[in-house]
Amino acid sequence: MPFKTKEKKKERKEYILGVVLKENNKIIGGCGINVSSLINQEGWIGYCFNKDYWKKGFATEAAKALVEFGFTKLDLHRIYATCDPKNIASSKVLEKIGMKKEGHLRENKLQKGSWRDSYLYAILEHEFKR
Ligand SMILES: CC(C)(COP(=O)(O)OP(=O)(O)OC[C@H]1O[C@@H](n2cnc3c(N)ncnc32)[C@H](O)[C@@H]1OP(=O)(O)O)[C@@H](O)C(=O)NCCC(=O)NCCS
Repeated sequence: MPFKTKEKKKERKEYILGVVLKENNKIIGGCGINVSSLINQEGWIGYCFNKDYWKKGFATEAAKALVEFGFTKLDLHRIYATCDPKNIASSKVLEKIGMKKEGHLRENKLQKGSWRDSYLYAILEHEFKR
């Protein structure tokens, strides 16, 4: 069964987290995991970092931790993420944590008045364990 908080005995579906640097506790980004379907044990992850801290491996470290949390604590079977096809960095993060590209979603997001495509990536529990 998905993780239950001891206090509320209620299934929590959303975990939105700040990412801080260990050495000075400075917030450098945010990330999160969302249980999108309890029945199908499916969730999705997302992240965003301060530009001053890009290309240092922080997004990969955070995404890896989210996936581990999803499989080991939330009992998920499948975790997915989407990113803009132009977002090379995000595609690389998702590939580096073991996700596979499953598709190209056409005009699935309306952003600032324009339709935007997305790549769909996912990893399954047995792929994570391997
Ligand atoms: C996408 C994002 C989270 C990546 O964060 P990051 O901390 O720089 O990522 P990492 O340092 O873990 O890098 C992962 C890979 O992407 C590469 N990369 C990072 N920025 C890049 C860029 N601008 N262009 C090309 N590759 C890039 C890194 O070199 C690394 O690849 P490598 O290991 O082969 O060298 C960050 O750019 C960001 O916050 N962007 C704005 C918000 C966003 O796009 N969020 C994701 C929505 S899907």
